[in-house]
Amino acid sequence: MKLAFIGLGYVGLTTAVCMAYRGFDVVGVEVDDEKVEKISRGIAPVKEPKLEKLLKYALSRKKFTASTSYRDAVKADVFFITVGTPSKPDGGIDLSRVAEACKHIGETLATQEKVATVAVKSTVVPGTTRTLVKQKLEEASQKKVGMDLNLCVNPEFLREGAAVDDTFHPDRIVIGDDWGRGGKILTRLYKKFYGRKTPPTMITNTVNAEMIKYASNVFLAARISLINEVANICQRTPGADVEEVAKGIGMDRRIGPHFLRAGLGYGGSCFPKDVKALAAFAKSLGVEPCMLESVQKVNDNQPYKAIELAERLVGNLHGRKAAVLGLSFKPNTDDIREAVSLKIINKLLEHGCTVVAYDPAATENVRRLLGNKINYAESAEECIKNADFCIVATEWDEFRRLKPEVFKKHMKKPVVIDGRRVYDPAAIS
Ligand code: UGA
Repeated sequence: MKLAFIGLGYVGLTTAVCMAYRGFDVVGVEVDDEKVEKISRGIAPVKEPKLEKLLKYALSRKKFTASTSYRDAVKADVFFITVGTPSKPDGGIDLSRVAEACKHIGETLATQEKVATVAVKSTVVPGTTRTLVKQKLEEASQKKVGMDLNLCVNPEFLREGAAVDDTFHPDRIVIGDDWGRGGKILTRLYKKFYGRKTPPTMITNTVNAEMIKYASNVFLAARISLINEVANICQRTPGADVEEVAKGIGMDRRIGPHFLRAGLGYGGSCFPKDVKALAAFAKSLGVEPCMLESVQKVNDNQPYKAIELAERLVGNLHGRKAAVLGLSFKPNTDDIREAVSLKIINKLLEHGCTVVAYDPAATENVRRLLGNKINYAESAEECIKNADFCIVATEWDEFRRLKPEVFKKHMKKPVVIDGRRVYDPAAIS
C-alpha cells in the first residue's frame, strides 16, 4: 500500500516516517521547500526524540521521500491530510490549509482511475469533513465520495516530545467514516502496521471522530486547570501540598493518576488552540462554553503565579537579575508556541528585571523572537550565576539533576521558584 502525507509538521512527518520504517512506501508533500530540502537530507526540522534516526533509515531504504509536488504522490492509495489548523483572531480555526490540501489532492486524483482514500488527521471542527473537505475533494477530482473516492477522519493523539513512541504504542485508534469503505481500508492498514499489537479501534461517524479529538484535548486541559486551581487553594492553606493531594485523588480509578501535575499551566500548539476553537465553535451554536472559558482563564493567570511568588520572596523586582530555566513549552522539544516561559519573561521585563535564560533545545527559537531583550546562557549554571531569583519554567531532566548546592553556590541567594515541581522542597531548603 502506498501512502501520502500532506503536511510534514511533527504529526505528518512522524507518522509518515514510522509507516515507512514498517515497510510502507511513503511520500510526504510539504509546501515549505526549505523543510523538504532538510528532510531529504535526513535532518528533522523539529526536535523529536528518535525521529531523525527513523527518518535516515527510511530514506536509506528508499521507503520515504519528501517533495513539494503533489505529482510525486499520484500513486498513493491513501492520502493523510496532516496540515496545520492555526487559530484565527476570534479563536476559531483557520481551515485554509486543509481546503488547499483537498484541492491539490482532488486535482491529483482526477488524473487517476483507481479509488483512493483520503483520511483527515488534522484537527478540524466537527462537521468539516462532511462539508468542506468532501466538497473540495469532489470539486477538484470530479469524483464522488462513497463511489469512486473514499473519505474518513482519523484524529491523531500524539504528544510532542513523545510522538514516535505514541505512534508505535497508541492507546486507541479512532476512525470516523460516513460512507463505509475508507474506514475499512484504514483498519486494514493499521492491522498491517501494528500486527498482533493493534490497539483498540473505534469506528464511528466523521463528526464524532472530529469531536473526540477536541473533547480529548479539552478534558486534558481541564484536568490541568482544575489541579492548578486546587494548587492555588493549597498554597494558601497551611499544611496543604498539592502533590500529596494529586497522589491521593489519582488513586481513585475514576480519576486516575495522569495529567495531574500542577504548575505554570499548559502551553504548546494544541491545548491553547483547541480549547479556544471548541469554545468558538460552541458559541457559534449558541452554547455558552462556561467550563472552557474557565479552563482558559485559570491557565492564562497561572504563569504569573511565579512572578507573585518572586515578589513575595525578594520584594520589588525592579533591577533584579532573574534566571529562567527552560523555554520550550515542555521537555524534549524545541517548540516555544504558547510557552509559559515567554509570558513569564515578558512580565519580568515589564517589572524592570534583567533576564537570563537557558534551555537545552529552544534557545535559538527564543532568540529569534526576543533578540537582545534578554541574555542567553550556555548552561544552567551560567544562567543562575549571581541571579536574585530563578524560575524553573520547563521540567527538563537536565534541571532535575541540579543539586541544591549548585543554586547555593552560584546565586546571590538561592531563591528558586520551581514552576514545574522538579525539586523536592525538603532537599533544597
Ligand atoms: C497534546 C495531547 O496530549 C495529545 O494527545 C494531542 O495529540 C496533542 O496535544 C495534539 O492535539 O496534537 P502536546 O501539546 O504535545 O499534546 O503535549 P502534552 O504532553 O499534552 O502537554 C501539554 C501541556 O500541558 C504542556 O505545557 C505541559 O507542560 C502541560 N501539562 C501536562 C501540565 O501542566 N500538567 C500535566 O499534568 C500535564
